[in-house]
Amino acid sequence: MSSWIRTHNCGMIGLPEVGTTVSLNGWVNRYRNLGGLLFIDLRDRTGIVQVVFNPEQNRELFKTAERIRNEYVLMVRGRVEKRPEATMNQEMATGAVEVHAEELLIINSAKTPPIYVNEDAAEEETLRLRYRYLDLRRPEMQNKIALRHRIVKLIRDFLDEKGFWEIETPMLTRSTPEGARDFLVPSRVNPGKFYALPQSPQIFKQLLMVSGVEKYFQIARCFRDEDLRADRQPEFTQIDLELSFVEREMILALMEEMMVILLKEIKGIELHRPFPRLEYTAAMNRYGSDKPDTRFGMELEDISALVADSQFAVFRKILEQGGKVVAFTAPGCGHYTRRELDALSPLAAKYGAKGVAYFALTEGKVKSPISKFFTTEQLAKITAKLEAKDGDLVLIIADQNPNQALTALGALRLEFGRRLNLIRDDQYNLLWVVNFPLFEYDPVAQRLVSVHHPFTAPLREDEDLIATDPLKVRSNSYDLVLNGTELGGGSIRIHQPNLQEKIFQTLGLTPEVIKDKFGFLLEAFEYGTPPHGGIALGLDRLVMLLTGAASLRDVIAFPKTTSATCLMTMAPSAVSEEQLQEAHLVTNYRQKESSSEPLHE
Ligand code: AMO
Ligand code: AMP
Repeated sequence: MSSWIRTHNCGMIGLPEVGTTVSLNGWVNRYRNLGGLLFIDLRDRTGIVQVVFNPEQNRELFKTAERIRNEYVLMVRGRVEKRPEATMNQEMATGAVEVHAEELLIINSAKTPPIYVNEDAAEEETLRLRYRYLDLRRPEMQNKIALRHRIVKLIRDFLDEKGFWEIETPMLTRSTPEGARDFLVPSRVNPGKFYALPQSPQIFKQLLMVSGVEKYFQIARCFRDEDLRADRQPEFTQIDLELSFVEREMILALMEEMMVILLKEIKGIELHRPFPRLEYTAAMNRYGSDKPDTRFGMELEDISALVADSQFAVFRKILEQGGKVVAFTAPGCGHYTRRELDALSPLAAKYGAKGVAYFALTEGKVKSPISKFFTTEQLAKITAKLEAKDGDLVLIIADQNPNQALTALGALRLEFGRRLNLIRDDQYNLLWVVNFPLFEYDPVAQRLVSVHHPFTAPLREDEDLIATDPLKVRSNSYDLVLNGTELGGGSIRIHQPNLQEKIFQTLGLTPEVIKDKFGFLLEAFEYGTPPHGGIALGLDRLVMLLTGAASLRDVIAFPKTTSATCLMTMAPSAVSEEQLQEAHLVTNYRQKESSSEPLHE
């Protein structure tokens, strides 16, 4: 036999190859033995082609082919023939041709796969993750992986063109200031000491600005020990950048240019620039979210002033305590039954609402358990402000904490957007949310904490408020939002030591804590720091949104489950007592033959 190496890829065979002899390598996607003829769909990463074995032509070969099963690895050599008109398959890219086998090599057999590789993922996700290497053979998954590669390639080329240098930063490092929990790594050679895996390259990229790099980027792996959701993984990838001698608009414009290229190349969509910019407070007031989905309207309204003099004590009390009453109109939902309406309260409670009130407008009447507390005139004013018509449903949430009222109602808005089919999945709404608060109050720590991180610069016009009214200070920060998901975030950094000092003081950090946590960075800042700023986009989230995947797990080759485990390698796992000893995590090492047995199975 001559070489088993392919001359062609399965998916590349078509009418131009008719009459030629080709060698193919790949996996058996499907086989059908019709007795008289045996058909195989041979698959490689480019696609699938049909191979035919005919016992009339070669009995020996046919017999070997009868041993073939799904997922066997083959070399097939044969002549490409045009299929008879009636058997052409329009669904298949290679459906006009088939390969008439003349030579077959079973390179490897395969056990019966525990998941169907030749069908779209229908199994339990746990089974797919357990056999991830088989799951990744599916064309659907391969497309996502290939697309992720293309996106990264486009980004690298774009940033290279703009003069950025890609620089790697350490994985074994110190705690970074992103505010999630660190993953710790014990040091063998430094007993009792630990590295932290980086939550982001934040400190290093700022140090690189002190180093005069001026334009840095990295496709950076980040680690955060936080509670996981569909859009959060414990290890994920950022498109991380930092620039010197910049102002905010330059960074936003650069990112817009990059997103325009990505959407054009990947989805064929032309985005308009500049992207809309929303103040944080406007995003909260209008959408009840700092990452609003603007693909549909149903914006929130503040109706506090209209209900302040009503007879409804719940609202009055909340308003007296400095709270807010907010509402929106769900068009055409006035016909909701009592049961459907009652189900709204537990739903809103899931989002932290203490209650939800409604006015259902049907047949010229207002249906609501609380309408009796309002005069006709008050009701008319409320419905007018909300532009509610007959047949609509007005939903109202009140809370002593205005942001809580807005967030819960924002979640209901999204829920109704979905129920009413208002969200188009072929639309890509990108926008910037800017000027987040610099500080927020942490009731557990009972002190102010940074909303972003302590190196984020305040807006110049708000600097005086740091001493007098810190919660009112806005930061020079920006988040990029795509269809209701936070795609990225960044800020202009502080480069003046005395301003940095003031921020640390406001955060209530003692000089000892500051020195211990950020001493090396502050020291570096004393040697001539350029003004600088940057941003990081979540690569996994970007790929998820561009591929329409439902979860980050679908766009990461080897992801973790929501309980932070890998079902294939079974990480995390117990380790031997010897390893614990070496890492100085146990001190009384028992010198027994069982010492290398895993602990706590
Ligand atoms: P931030 O913490 O906002 O900023 O993170 C930037 C982006 O990273 C993505 N992301 C995640 N993706 C998947 N799983 C996670 N657990 C996860 N956490 C964050 C999000 C987010 O918008 N150093 C700063 C950036 C800067 O200031 O330049 C930072 O890390 O898409
Ligand atoms: P209650 O007096 O708690 O029985 O509530 C009477 C009505 O007011 C019910 O429809 C509640 O859902 C509604 N309600 C109570 N608290 C709130 C609130 N914080 N926001 C909106 N509606 C509320």
